Amino acid sequence: MTKVLVIGAKGQLGQSFQYWAPHFPHFEFFFKDLPEFNLLDQAQLERYFKTTPTDIVINCAAYTAVDQAEDEPKMAQQLNAVAVDSLCQLSKIFGFKLIHFSTDYVFDGSAHSPYGEDDTLSPLGVYGKTKAEGEAVILAAGIDGWIIRTSWLFSPYGKNFVKTIFSLLQNKDEINVVADQTGSPTYAIDLAAATLKVLEQKPVFDGVKVYHYTNSGHTTWYGLALAIQQQINTPCQIRVVDTANYPTKAKRPKYSVLGCEKIKKEFNLNPQVWESALKDCLKKIG
Ligand SMILES: NC(=O)c1ccc[n+]([C@@H]2O[C@H](COP(=O)([O-])OP(=O)(O)OC[C@H]3O[C@@H](n4cnc5c(N)ncnc54)[C@H](OP(=O)(O)O)[C@@H]3O)[C@@H](O)[C@H]2O)c1
Repeated sequence: MTKVLVIGAKGQLGQSFQYWAPHFPHFEFFFKDLPEFNLLDQAQLERYFKTTPTDIVINCAAYTAVDQAEDEPKMAQQLNAVAVDSLCQLSKIFGFKLIHFSTDYVFDGSAHSPYGEDDTLSPLGVYGKTKAEGEAVILAAGIDGWIIRTSWLFSPYGKNFVKTIFSLLQNKDEINVVADQTGSPTYAIDLAAATLKVLEQKPVFDGVKVYHYTNSGHTTWYGLALAIQQQINTPCQIRVVDTANYPTKAKRPKYSVLGCEKIKKEFNLNPQVWESALKDCLKKIG
């Protein structure tokens, strides 16, 4: 049986892998997170891999607080780049393949058509910069693995835009939502399923490959908020604001749609449109 370690197992993507685990009986899963499994503790990781044979590591752990990262660049870098380097060194010693996730925020958003896997990275904020650094570390490490970039994750788990708006729509008379940033909302449960379906095909690993995976279609944060409201019918008024009138610590890309043709073609995937994924998520949120 293929032994799969999922790190960051309590985060929203990690929990999405846990959701699917019973449906993939050919994999033996090990789910780990803080405090007993700390990606920043190299000695602890070494002890783990010495005693637990591992074929594939799926790294869902990351520093994901986009605005907070502007105040804590060292912490973001430690987790998103330095710890990733440690994982690469361990991959060389213990021979596991590394599946790592990255973000649309490695791009600056000046494009007008979907970003390709090989487009130039030009992150605007600390989070994106540290994630880009993590990618560079993996590409230079001489290991086997994948970097899967995704965007605008939502799920019934953890903290995310859909859960926040779902709650605000029921508790506020009006809310302001940005309408001039465009991206592809992605259901973490779909991303986890796609990753496992691809691994089930026993792909040949030969160096590091970069893929994009998102749900189909794109919208703005405002469009996503409206779609949530259509499902739950509340009188709350959603007001359009521009990024300029909704200042945040971190700059975000104006347009960060990722082109997903490569992963779709190579592995015969057909991601559902974000609207139907949203319906499924809202049913689960209740
Ligand atoms: N969220 C998005 O919209 C989005 C968009 C594009 C790409 N991505 C990427 O997708 C991946 C998954 O994101 P996510 O939203 O699932 O993240 P998340 O919900 O923030 O989960 C990250 C998990 O990592 C854990 N963690 C933090 N520090 C750790 C450490 N030192 N050792 C081990 N685990 C640690 C966290 O624990 P604590 O909660 O206790 O800190 C949390 O359980 C990340 O690589 C992210 O960059 C996310």
